[in-house]
Amino acid sequence: MRRIAFLSVLLSVLVFATRAPAHAQQPAASTAQIPPTETNPTWWKNAVIYEIYPRSFQDSNGDGIGDLNGITSRLDYLQKLGVNAVWLTPIYPSPQVDFGYDISNYEAIDPQYGTMADFDHLVAEARKRHIGIVMDLVLNHTSDQHPWFKESASSRTNPKADWYMWRDPKMVNGHREPPNNWISDFGGSAWQWDPARQQYYYHEYYVQQPDLNWNNPQVRKAMYDVARFWIRHGVIGFRLDAITSLFEDPQDRNEPYILGPDGKPRIDAFGDKEVEDIYTDDLPEVHDVLRQLRQVTDEASGGKAVLIGETYLRSIADLRKMYGAGNDELQLPMDMQVGFINKLDVPLFRKRINDAETKLGGDEPLFVFDNHDNPRWDRYQLNAEGAPDFGYRPYHDDIGRVIATVLFASRDTAMMYYGDAIGMVTTPPTRKEDVRDPIGIRGWPKEKGRDGERTPMQWNAGPDAGFSPPGIKTWLPIPPSYRTVNVAAEEREPDSMLRWYQQIMALKKDDPALHEGEEMMLNTADDHVLSWLRKAPDGEAVVVACNFTAQPQTVSLNLAAQGVQGTHLKTLIKTPGAPDPAALDLQLGPYGVYVGQVSQDRR
Ligand code: GLC
Repeated sequence: MRRIAFLSVLLSVLVFATRAPAHAQQPAASTAQIPPTETNPTWWKNAVIYEIYPRSFQDSNGDGIGDLNGITSRLDYLQKLGVNAVWLTPIYPSPQVDFGYDISNYEAIDPQYGTMADFDHLVAEARKRHIGIVMDLVLNHTSDQHPWFKESASSRTNPKADWYMWRDPKMVNGHREPPNNWISDFGGSAWQWDPARQQYYYHEYYVQQPDLNWNNPQVRKAMYDVARFWIRHGVIGFRLDAITSLFEDPQDRNEPYILGPDGKPRIDAFGDKEVEDIYTDDLPEVHDVLRQLRQVTDEASGGKAVLIGETYLRSIADLRKMYGAGNDELQLPMDMQVGFINKLDVPLFRKRINDAETKLGGDEPLFVFDNHDNPRWDRYQLNAEGAPDFGYRPYHDDIGRVIATVLFASRDTAMMYYGDAIGMVTTPPTRKEDVRDPIGIRGWPKEKGRDGERTPMQWNAGPDAGFSPPGIKTWLPIPPSYRTVNVAAEEREPDSMLRWYQQIMALKKDDPALHEGEEMMLNTADDHVLSWLRKAPDGEAVVVACNFTAQPQTVSLNLAAQGVQGTHLKTLIKTPGAPDPAALDLQLGPYGVYVGQVSQDRR
């Protein structure tokens, strides 16, 4: 995991405009349906992938924790939203130190989430609705309770002795020290002393998550068998956790320190000296594994399974490498460079989106704004408005429409997170004793952990927000906002956040230009409004414009520069109260959005 440092960019808000109801016209008639996942090997192109954090989606048995049958019961909601695949964060047996990312058995279901029969039922019911299930494959590490690790730790000579990253101590003045300065992403040294083996083992994450040794062919084979196992159970792909961390420098060199303005190493929220992870992240050996894994999944699935990567990388050039020189690695490495800009900065968004369009060699970008490791998209609101904390503010939904439009109207596969579509806000704990995520306990108060983005899904205004049966203590508290911010209420409200998501997602699926059209930036000198053009193979052209500021903006679209004939726009969707455009001139209110089809006349 790379939790993106949360940028506080304080822009003052001058005007709190009266908010007229949002309104959107019906999308154009369907012309380009995405075929169901099982018949189309490139089903994932221009598709929508929805991340579910199973603990927090729907509790069906009243233990306060979400489960598989709960997810199955909500498939109709996901189908209506227009989701093509669901990625489930880990549901395997686990001591739950890192809420499932510490796996003790890769080929079973944790009883708190259900049984294998429940899983098979979920896959079958999802398939009926043309939704594929994507599993989270955690290859970098296991739980320390996994039998592999227990065996590996038992001696230096057992058959699995070399399955993990064991190292002798460095002796300094007769004292034992870790082999080098590598630190855990979750705080402290990344080396843990094991008294039985009299050696250290390496853990990129918690002590309870020892890293596997990917130089060992037996480790590779065991994990490739795991992938085959789940493909046999009908999954349509994998999200590869921490995939860039599989290898470490064979010489165990010290990472360079990141220096602050005073020339001394910067200190992170856990009190550790910050390092640049050049020897523990994105090493070239990972490509070898990705090619092998791709062969395995292609073979086992007849070429239909998709490999999605958790790829926080330094540049677009590094991202491009993850697709493989022969397109034989990941189909969808996550592009974290767009969604995690974390401030509404038009030139930066323009550059990064354009980079994805022009510098990935035509490969499919996967944009993502939200996941279970980072504050929700309301961080953009907080940054834009200089507010002291998360919450609902006058421009919340307007900024949400901007984010959703960038995500769904770009040429990309779109990844979204549960709760995004109703505009759930990040709700971090306010007292240390309430924190559940261990990184929040260790890093409090600077690092409050990830509970804030993992709160239970808000289905309705009833007790427990419809997440758990009434009166149950849910594993994380239901945010107070559930009374008004919930699926049932937003289904009824024509101008709700949810309706905007449904409509813009329908446009992505059904409008040929928005579904697969090439993408060109418009009005590239404008620092307030991000606008772009999508052009379908049949010539249909659609313009998209998003006002990234709290001030009204006027834009005259320059289409001729992109070789597009057209003098008028036919609105497909637009935000509250915006007037219809006159010719190619748009008037956008604060954080206003406009999407329209280019035409020759006023029709
Ligand atoms: C990934 C997951 C994160 C987890 C970490 C360790 O970054 O997204 O939630 O804690 O890997 O497995």
